[in-house]
Amino acid sequence: MKIGRNDPCPCGSGLKYKKCCMRKTSKRETNLQDLYYTKHRIRLKEDKDIQGIRTAGDLVMQTLGLVQGHIRAGISTESINSLVHDFTLKHNAVPAPLNYNGFPKSVCVSINEEICHGIPGPRIIEEGDIVNVDVTSIVNGYYADANQTFLVGQATEEARKIVNVALECLRRGLEQIGPGKTLGDIGWAIQDYAEGRGCSVVREMVGHGVGFDFHEPPQVPHFGKKGEGIELIPGMVFTVEPMINLGGRELKILEDKWTAVTKDRSLSAQFEQTVVVTPEGYESLTPF
Ligand code: MF3
Ligand code: CO
Ligand code: CO
Repeated sequence: MKIGRNDPCPCGSGLKYKKCCMRKTSKRETNLQDLYYTKHRIRLKEDKDIQGIRTAGDLVMQTLGLVQGHIRAGISTESINSLVHDFTLKHNAVPAPLNYNGFPKSVCVSINEEICHGIPGPRIIEEGDIVNVDVTSIVNGYYADANQTFLVGQATEEARKIVNVALECLRRGLEQIGPGKTLGDIGWAIQDYAEGRGCSVVREMVGHGVGFDFHEPPQVPHFGKKGEGIELIPGMVFTVEPMINLGGRELKILEDKWTAVTKDRSLSAQFEQTVVVTPEGYESLTPF
């Protein structure tokens, strides 16, 4: 039976169908792609886009592998920048950080109490440092973003703890991802684990949509409540990149206007992947 425009709405509201659910199921709004763009400014990715981001992600992971093989006590953070920069150009790609909002280098390198956005320079990496290297490459116009924190040489118990907790936070955040889950589910899983281990979650920096641009909607907080926030649907591509501190969650930005450090100078660690929501759950486009 077909409901007429002027019939009572079958939802029981007492309104005419045309004034009620007919609109909610109008063609424009049932198209999730349009709805997510209109409501959240989220641009869903099609298969060809996902393939493009996957290719960029492959290069990002190759770059992090190269860095892992080179990183050791005695090298400068500038030498990590050169390695990443040259490798990226050799593969006909562009390092996204370079000149991004005035960022002067091709990769972020953040040591110990530095949370993120460390600028490579003459600083020498020392035995026992924990060093985060954050790589974002643009390949054929598509962006992929990932980072890892490396332990250099013999690490203290504290250093090993914060690196392990940050990695487990990423894993637990990713485990939440799938259609019908929400951004709040991801944040909750991360916050619950970090705080349960006596660590804290940075609030000011969040994960983000990625793919067509470096930072797209939505924001992906690493804290939150189950069931809150935007519902995940296939074709969403975003990062999860929890920044976890051994002490308090407060941060400070250094004089260079970029480097974020823990206010109490406690150690901070981070891991990041770019993922796509699939009908079955998710796929990492920068897997490790
Ligand atoms: N790669 C960082 C992220 O995960 C952003 C770095 S912005 C830069 O979002 F300008 F510092 F490179
Ligand atoms: Co990111
Ligand atoms: Co990043």
